[in-house]
Amino acid sequence: MTGKERVCKSLQCEEVDRPPIWLMRQAGRYLPEYRALKKKYSFLEMIKTPDLACEVTMQPLRRFPLDAAILFSDILVIPEAMGQGFYFRDVGGIGMDYRIQSKRDVDQLIASDAVDNLDYVARALEVIGENLPNNESLLGFSGSPWTLATYMVEGGSSKNFSRILDLYREDRALFENLLSKLTEANIGYLKMQIEKGADAIQIFDSWAGICPEKEYWNMSLKWVARIIDELPKDFPIILYAKGVSDRVEALLHTGAKALSLDWTVRLADIKASLKHNVCLQGNLNPDLLFGDSGAMLKATNHLLGEMKPYRGFICNLGHGLTPESKIENVETMVNAVVNS
Ligand code: CP3
Repeated sequence: MTGKERVCKSLQCEEVDRPPIWLMRQAGRYLPEYRALKKKYSFLEMIKTPDLACEVTMQPLRRFPLDAAILFSDILVIPEAMGQGFYFRDVGGIGMDYRIQSKRDVDQLIASDAVDNLDYVARALEVIGENLPNNESLLGFSGSPWTLATYMVEGGSSKNFSRILDLYREDRALFENLLSKLTEANIGYLKMQIEKGADAIQIFDSWAGICPEKEYWNMSLKWVARIIDELPKDFPIILYAKGVSDRVEALLHTGAKALSLDWTVRLADIKASLKHNVCLQGNLNPDLLFGDSGAMLKATNHLLGEMKPYRGFICNLGHGLTPESKIENVETMVNAVVNS
């Protein structure tokens, strides 16, 4: 069975020879070949130059027997394409060039500009399509409107998210205006990724956990539902939501075909509790990648064992790889799945 078949069948909850494997943020600074390119080019140069974006997309696939390539880009390309640039802070985390604070700031963001300005992603996907072996699947992605808005309103990575929470409580019209624009940009952007050959799309709601349970639909999920509603029917959309793994029914209400969950829950329990067969992805703790490879192996085998009775499972981490991850542990995890 090819990687592409494994991924596509698992997303439909059909039988496969073994679970497919790919890793959230499988490209990046933990790989020396990525760091070598980073000495010559900035992050933005790499994502905006189709040949370089293709090269970085392929790097993890050359090292590990992964079942999918993930477009090399970032969720923050949507704000960037609307005129709000980002950079990496020296102390770690993201900084935005300015903060969205007023009606004028939101009025200046044009959703259609975003899609036009993201043409470099279309060209990167074309080059990746030409270079990817046809037995591998290709994943596209974007950030949920809520998660993008947190960076845009906070001015970058945040500790307490007070500005975005204040905006939601105190100026709902402006909040909705901003999220509508991000939703529209997302729809155009994801339609383009699907046209350019993505086999599945992952929507990252990385800051879902900031939303109070009662407000989560209004703050985030309703915008995700609007996006999914505009995409081709039955196209596999994987929704990653961090910090809300106990809210699976709400997550599924968006129309997502698959859920990617963090490590705070037992996936087998969630699978058993669901009324319909839904593909689940996850959910190993990325901290396992810093430690002893024996612990990584044990945790991976444990998860594989618990999910063995079920169809519709994609083995992955519960959050992204970080620069400190040990290559040896990534190898251990991937090989455990491939040999299962
Ligand atoms: O293989 C892949 O998955 C690569 C594509 C990818 C990147 N970012 C590349 C990247 C994907 C899918 C993302 C998603 C992303 N980006 C999310 C959602 C998933 C998640 O982790 O929750 C978020 C919240 C972002 C925003 C972002 N971009 C952060 C928080 C950071 C880290 C900043 C820091 O402190 O280092 C980035 C940078 C980033 N995005 C890197 C890569 C490879 C590292 C850039 C570098 O240092 O060269």
